[in-house]
Amino acid sequence: MSRTELAKLIRERRAIKKGYNDKKVTKETVMQLLEESIWAPTHGMRQPWRFLFVDKDHLPGFAKKIAATYPEERQENRENYLNEPNAILVVIMETSDIPKQWDENFGAVSAMIQNFWLLAWEEKLGIVWKTNPHIYDEKVKEILHVKDNEKIAAFIHMGYFDETPEEKERIPLADKFEVFKG
Ligand SMILES: Cc1cc2nc3c(=O)[nH]c(=O)nc-3n(C[C@H](O)[C@H](O)[C@H](O)COP(=O)(O)O)c2cc1C
Repeated sequence: MSRTELAKLIRERRAIKKGYNDKKVTKETVMQLLEESIWAPTHGMRQPWRFLFVDKDHLPGFAKKIAATYPEERQENRENYLNEPNAILVVIMETSDIPKQWDENFGAVSAMIQNFWLLAWEEKLGIVWKTNPHIYDEKVKEILHVKDNEKIAAFIHMGYFDETPEEKERIPLADKFEVFKG
């Protein structure tokens, strides 16, 4: 792949948050994309990630369980919301008591997720990294068997889509770049 193609992919990738169609997101597709994504940089070769894939057939039961952790008046809304994508990939990160290692692990997981996002985009599979309050909820961690030395880094909502969202402008680099002058 030429540098130009990679730059184009980076620029054109979008977060697909809604408008998922019915085409099924399979375990095989997700595993194939992850096989490449896990070549992300990872300090100490810790590879501090693991994955829990929820396909369309299992999404209703999953959504009900996660939604049940919310106050009653929010549950129906959250259940519907979690049923919108065609599949969800839960990304679980290994934490650390050592801040340096915690940061490195989150950095590695983020790089891996960006790989996944770009590769999915190339396949016209829409995804979005979600950090809704439930990913921080101890009850959700229990339901998903997330261990004490782990955190949920992301719920990745996934689905094929028909309409590409508008691009969101970036702040010009010149506004965020300076040269150290001693
Ligand atoms: C760490 C992280 C967390 C995010 N969490 C959410 C989220 O909880 N809900 C959401 O709708 N989008 C979430 N997003 C997606 C961003 O909103 C999206 O990337 C941003 O609007 C830029 O749009 P683009 O990715 O299409 O360029 C998250 C993105 C990142 C990197």
